[in-house]
Amino acid sequence: MFKHLLVPVDDSDLSIVNVGEAIKLARSFTPPLKLTFFHAASDDAVQGDGSTPYDELRQHHVLADGAMVAVPPPAAAGTGERVVDEGRALLAKAAAAAQAAGVPHATHETHGDKPAEAIAKAARHCGCDGIVMSSHRRSGVGALLTPSVATKVMRLSKLPLLITRAEAADRHPDASRATALIQDEHRSLAAVLYALRHRVDDARRGDDPLDRALVAEMLLYLHEYPERRHHPKEEASLHRLLRHHGDRGRDLLHRLEAQHLREYELAASLQAACDACPDRAVGDDPTLVRVDEALAALAAHVWEHMRLEEHELLPLALEVLTPREWRDVADVFAGNQDPGFGEWSEQDFRRHFARAATAAPLPQARAGG
Ligand SMILES: [Fe+2]
Ligand SMILES: [Fe+2]
Repeated sequence: MFKHLLVPVDDSDLSIVNVGEAIKLARSFTPPLKLTFFHAASDDAVQGDGSTPYDELRQHHVLADGAMVAVPPPAAAGTGERVVDEGRALLAKAAAAAQAAGVPHATHETHGDKPAEAIAKAARHCGCDGIVMSSHRRSGVGALLTPSVATKVMRLSKLPLLITRAEAADRHPDASRATALIQDEHRSLAAVLYALRHRVDDARRGDDPLDRALVAEMLLYLHEYPERRHHPKEEASLHRLLRHHGDRGRDLLHRLEAQHLREYELAASLQAACDACPDRAVGDDPTLVRVDEALAALAAHVWEHMRLEEHELLPLALEVLTPREWRDVADVFAGNQDPGFGEWSEQDFRRHFARAATAAPLPQARAGG
């Protein structure tokens, strides 16, 4: 029987679905199976010379004592560094999803231009006894989950290949795509919350004093992403369409929108607590304790909100929305239809996320498992 599965991760929509399906599969066992999420960046991208131009975000954060912390724009990273950060951010999201589901997990990353070989080698290196892949690629530019890669992996690896989903068998592809994209945005918030929790725990233990510039960057994401992108997209697409289908979801939508407002208040409280906390704070410093408490309050609120959305809102939407409406929701969440809020593009957020989510180490796979 299986104990430890390798889950290749790339930046395609299908990879998002595959991670979710792998976690469901792992949880269906008692105890849950261990998952190792694997990403391979292409050699060309990793060896880039950094000459690719980026839009500057020019984000600065003024601390309570008047000091200004410059949040380094993602443009500061060279191409290779950015690619590694973005690959690591994909792993951070997958790890956050597994952690939230109580599934033991690790991550492993490498680079190479032969995805099938890289997957087979990673499975051997990590001591996995199976590989989880999807059979079809839906969209995106990822290279790990194409049918031809799956076929090659089958040839190269003696391990069983577990196929999680076939597009042809999916009767509601737009609904699946939309719900996967929404859950992926939740994972990105969870990944940054986990990274920040890691940093605060390190400071409380005295292992690594709080780095305010880094924390400012993470807070900026926790503040801006829900307020400027995620919640407006939910309210402008999913909530609006559900309201066209009568009163069934009225109380739930009202509650969720009130939670959005409360989340901004809790994020602002965390921001204020961090502003009041001196750089390099450690241990039981009362200002650091307040940061700890404010983070716990925000995280608990966000978990409850996401739970309500994933366990009540999405099931209701799956019951009532039409395929055409789901296509609209999927397009909004994929960034194809910009609801017109905020100044950052999806790409800006992606770059910023990569920096915020990788601010804490990920659990690394050990050779041989
Ligand atoms: Fe929400
Ligand atoms: Fe949400």
